[in-house]
Amino acid sequence: MTLDARERLIVALDLPSVKSAEAMVAKLGESVCFYKIGYQLAFAGGLPFAAGLIAAGKQVFLDLKLHDIGNTVSKGVESVAQLGATFLTVHAYPQTMKAAVEGKRGSTLRILAVTVLTSYDDADLAAAGYDLGVGELAAARAAQARDTGIDGLVCSAEEAANLRGIVGPGMVLVTPGIRPAGTASGDQKRIMTPARAIEAGADYLVVGRPVVEARDPKAAADAIVAEIEQVTGK
Ligand code: C5P
Repeated sequence: MTLDARERLIVALDLPSVKSAEAMVAKLGESVCFYKIGYQLAFAGGLPFAAGLIAAGKQVFLDLKLHDIGNTVSKGVESVAQLGATFLTVHAYPQTMKAAVEGKRGSTLRILAVTVLTSYDDADLAAAGYDLGVGELAAARAAQARDTGIDGLVCSAEEAANLRGIVGPGMVLVTPGIRPAGTASGDQKRIMTPARAIEAGADYLVVGRPVVEARDPKAAADAIVAEIEQVTGK
């Protein structure tokens, strides 16, 4: 993949209002070209805001983790594609993934599948009625995602090497849980530094608090980009 280091950094705008998100984007300026918008901001005016970001030349990852009957998913994905987003997440259920791939047809939107939520362990899966453990279910869903024509996976950096072996070089791996050395881990349990995550096979890094809660967010973003560049050489 021929991405510049800066294109690999996705800053999570986990902020409560469009006003606070606008202020953060202004602070980050040219240092960040890719933003993730999740539930919190999406349901607080974040979709028109996303359209504005795209019009301003930024890339947008809508982390909406869709899951519904196929027709509903497919129509929802069509609308997201019209918005001009670059990435959209769906849960890695076969029907949902198939519908998402149909819905994005003809657009540049790329669908990312969430295999198993990182807050789930084997006991949570058993409580939800699954016989498989986290590792087995994630591997099975990664293979289904590949076979369905999904563009990429969201995964922890720890899983990246194993999942790369399953999906091959054609799918993108997008990893949250990134913590530059010396920053607080917060509630993330499986963390990796930017450089190690790239070495493990991640194509894109999602970083929230280490950037948006930094005293100098722009400097924090630039430092992450520099760390990525040390590994990728560009
Ligand atoms: O602040 P922090 O860097 O931990 O933010 C990580 C972002 O990635 C958050 O928006 C979080 O919802 C998201 N994410 C995650 N783990 C996943 C999937 C998404 O942390 N498995």
